[in-house]
Amino acid sequence: MALAISFDKENQIFTLSTKHSTYQMHIEEHNILLHLYYGKTIATTPLSYLICRQDRGFSGQPYDVGDAQGISFDTSPQEYPTFGSGDYRESCLSVIGTKGETGADLRYVSHEILKTKPKLSSMPALYGEGVPTLAITMRDTFLPVEVLLYYSVFEENDAITRSVVIKNVGTDTVYIDRALSACLDFLNGSFDMVYFPGSWAAERMTERVSVNHAKISLDSLRGTSSHQMNPFAILCEKHTTEEQGAAYGASLVYSGNFLMEAQADQTDQTRLVVGIHPQGFCYELAGSTEFVTPEVVFSYSASGFSKLSHNYHNLYKKHLLHGVWRDERRPILINSWEATYFDFNGEKLLKLAKEAKELGIEMLVMDDGWFGKRDDDTSGLGDWIVNEKKLGMSLHELASKVNALGLKFGIWFEPEMISEDSNLFHTHKDFCLRAGDRPYVRSRNQLVLDMSRADVRDYLFESISLVLQSAHIEYIKWDMNRSLCDVWSANLPPNRQGEVYHRYVLGVYDLLERLTSAFPEILFEGCSGGGGRFDPGMLYYSPQIWCSDNTDALARIKIQYGTSFCYPPSTMGAHVSICPNHQTRRVTPMAMRAMVAMTGTFGYELDPALLTQDEKEEIKEQIAMVKEYHPLLSKGDYYRLTDPFKNGRYAAWEFASKQKDQALLCFVLFKATANPATIYIKCKGLDENAFYQINGEGVFGGDALMNAGLRVPALYNDYQSYIFLILKI
Ligand code: GLA
Repeated sequence: MALAISFDKENQIFTLSTKHSTYQMHIEEHNILLHLYYGKTIATTPLSYLICRQDRGFSGQPYDVGDAQGISFDTSPQEYPTFGSGDYRESCLSVIGTKGETGADLRYVSHEILKTKPKLSSMPALYGEGVPTLAITMRDTFLPVEVLLYYSVFEENDAITRSVVIKNVGTDTVYIDRALSACLDFLNGSFDMVYFPGSWAAERMTERVSVNHAKISLDSLRGTSSHQMNPFAILCEKHTTEEQGAAYGASLVYSGNFLMEAQADQTDQTRLVVGIHPQGFCYELAGSTEFVTPEVVFSYSASGFSKLSHNYHNLYKKHLLHGVWRDERRPILINSWEATYFDFNGEKLLKLAKEAKELGIEMLVMDDGWFGKRDDDTSGLGDWIVNEKKLGMSLHELASKVNALGLKFGIWFEPEMISEDSNLFHTHKDFCLRAGDRPYVRSRNQLVLDMSRADVRDYLFESISLVLQSAHIEYIKWDMNRSLCDVWSANLPPNRQGEVYHRYVLGVYDLLERLTSAFPEILFEGCSGGGGRFDPGMLYYSPQIWCSDNTDALARIKIQYGTSFCYPPSTMGAHVSICPNHQTRRVTPMAMRAMVAMTGTFGYELDPALLTQDEKEEIKEQIAMVKEYHPLLSKGDYYRLTDPFKNGRYAAWEFASKQKDQALLCFVLFKATANPATIYIKCKGLDENAFYQINGEGVFGGDALMNAGLRVPALYNDYQSYIFLILKI
């Protein structure tokens, strides 16, 4: 295999090689850095011949190029395009100089091939031993601004990460009002874009549109990555399906405002840019300081979405998640939220824990309502002091009693928020984001703390640490229940308010870094009104994220389907809840609810006292099964066998071991019909030459199961489900 990173001095070409892909760049005359190619491996030919220098009219030349009209930033594929340099497409960088002059024109200066990937300052990023990294230094032709472009190559996972460091190497202060992480220019080809929009309780739905000359802009301006659009998108060929066609993924390791924009240009070249949203962003860069962009993770698959998802799943499980829980089976938990909402005390929770223990559940999580004055969502946020009066005991006593029952104990926090009716607000009104004296926007009756401030973070670190030190707490659910608004900080001067959105995100990461380092044994679960911040930035700190507040199994099929394009199922918090379901009022069988939840990080969200004896017996079996199949569910390859947005009759998905010796196929019928057509499901990820037994009964060849299909037994009921255990004999 080719070297992961090479530089062909003669032809001035950089080549990045992964197992199945090639990425090439070219330093052309005048030290302009062009992008040449990203796609299936090409090992034979330097690709600079692809560049066509044709005068297109109305596409100007940089000053030093003179009258060579074929050379224009506007018509050639750029590696890191800048605003104001004659490239009229979407750009990545814009710098404002001391006189207000705006733009940038970057030229290649030097490069270095590093043996390992440097740590990204202040932000989560992929990590790994010996991951080769290319650092290219560019410099503006006018201002003393240097830009370092970083490319790290994860060969096995066909992934390339990119991030950028922008340095002011002069003495005068400049401002950057646009600093995206990466651009991908395609010289030719026509693409579709697949993306994942949604809303609260319906996160990561799936849409696919054609990329034409109108901009397709995927973004969040909510201060978080958001329910409404996930920071992951796929550019693919028109004919790409799960199993065939080229697919390029772009995943931004960032939890704040973002932009992913694609557009075909005047000559049908396609550009994709990814990074922090420029709206509301303007960063002061004093002399000798630098700005670091978040990392974007690109991956390429020549054989459809399935392979692309496997690339991301394997990559994120090994190189993004970290800490002691990365590879461990997570405790099967019961969460108090849907069981009690705010109405609980210590005794009630202990009763819940006792019944849960009898079912085989391993951890009790005390959700919202245990601190300050908090019996509904109008008060208390910010006062992280245990309400012993409400609990009727100390936290230490409660946790000890839960432990004595044989369960671990976990607890809910919503650190970034403040209620107006709280001691914190009365003593520190300036702690929240608030646009000066302007009336502010309330959401769920709460305001947002100014996480850009070190004193706010210190307060949170200290008050949360005190709670964690006071009792044996083994899990934290880190919630965040509104979007940002009034994004203005009392701590920054007027000319630096454009930094607050980003500094907020850095502040959240800083607090998470401090807490996860101080309490490395605690398992963190991310949450934002369910899956409103399901992004790689949060996954770095919390190896599981509550996928959605919608626990209805039918709705969850779509949510988990969309989420699975980028994120490993083992990171998706998924619980079995009571019926009628609290979000949709739907009634579904317990078996189906468990099968859907089993796809993710399994748990329960109900009051066991409301269960029948039969249901309790069922739960015991479910728990035994989840434990037994944990290696397959967490390490196996996940296959989407149907598209729930297209197939209205049934859904199926599968986990297959990498050794191809076992698989678990989940199937659910949506609605029963009279005289139904027989359903056949084509399995994936098996060995064509091996034989498999299904649920201990019939024996079938892998070739038959994958090409002719598995015959689903007759179905009589709505939401009837089957789990097929497929074992190699
Ligand atoms: C959010 C979470 C829920 C629950 C509530 C508590 O909505 O997603 O699971 O924790 O907050 O207020």
